Amino acid sequence: TAVTDTAPAQKATPTLPDAQTVTFVKHWTDRLFSFRVSRPASLRFRSGEFVMIGLMGDPDEKTGRQKPILRAYSIASPSWDEELEFYSIKVPDGPLTSRLQKIEVGDQIILRPKPVGTLVHDALLPGKRLWFFATGTGFAPFASLLREPQTYEDYDEVVITHTCRTLGELTYGAQLIEDLKTDELLNELIGEGFWKKIRYYPTTTREESPKMGRITDLMRSGEVFADLDIAPINPETDRGMVCGNLAFNIEIKELLEGYGLEEGANSDPKHYVVEKAFVD
Ligand code: A2P
Repeated sequence: TAVTDTAPAQKATPTLPDAQTVTFVKHWTDRLFSFRVSRPASLRFRSGEFVMIGLMGDPDEKTGRQKPILRAYSIASPSWDEELEFYSIKVPDGPLTSRLQKIEVGDQIILRPKPVGTLVHDALLPGKRLWFFATGTGFAPFASLLREPQTYEDYDEVVITHTCRTLGELTYGAQLIEDLKTDELLNELIGEGFWKKIRYYPTTTREESPKMGRITDLMRSGEVFADLDIAPINPETDRGMVCGNLAFNIEIKELLEGYGLEEGANSDPKHYVVEKAFVD
């Protein structure tokens, strides 16, 4: 930057605390959008973690003071990316998302640079096959982990299941997985054709598609294992990461425990880990 002897220009808008600038926005459906923001130079995180992000709320009617509205959002970009990506639902009367859905390139959001979370490789014991179980925007941490080299270094096979209401709601994930085939970094680091390790298993529940039904039901019936031509989940070989709505997380936990898997944590790695997808 140039050194000048003139006074710095007056800022048009007051600077937000922990402000980051929006660099990209894409609306996938009337309920879903993704966006990218600048990354604080000092922010280090592990693929799969989340941070608190948000916007300034309206001024308080009496005091005029503004408070930030913050929510936990999984970082959807991998740890090596220069920017940060997020994948969000739009809730018409949601305190944050009703406003966040209106952001445009050049706008600022608040991002507290303190990443945390359990959907990290460190929380799992070594295994052969890694399962990612997602519903809706629960795909976000897996968007990060699917672009993370360690995922393919540590496992022979990665199964990503994504259950959504409609085909349109699968598009963000489907596109991301398709783009992995030509991902220069991963092809170079892991080897050409690394993406053949990925088994993508999308399902819909409220719109006709090649595979219909909740993944939980397809696991109970054994259909998912038959479709993928793999053995049922087993604690010797299989590891799991789960991210979806609360009811889904509870059902998948029960199923995984039924196969003999135990829940892990950062300080106590085991066979599977769970995190709730953001809802507003
Ligand atoms: P369904 O349409 O049968 O409710 P949402 O958009 O409401 O967050 O849901 C995302 C997807 O997760 C939907 O396809 C929904 O199916 C599915 N889902 C909701 N609850 C469960 C559950 N307990 N087990 C499996 N899938 C679920």
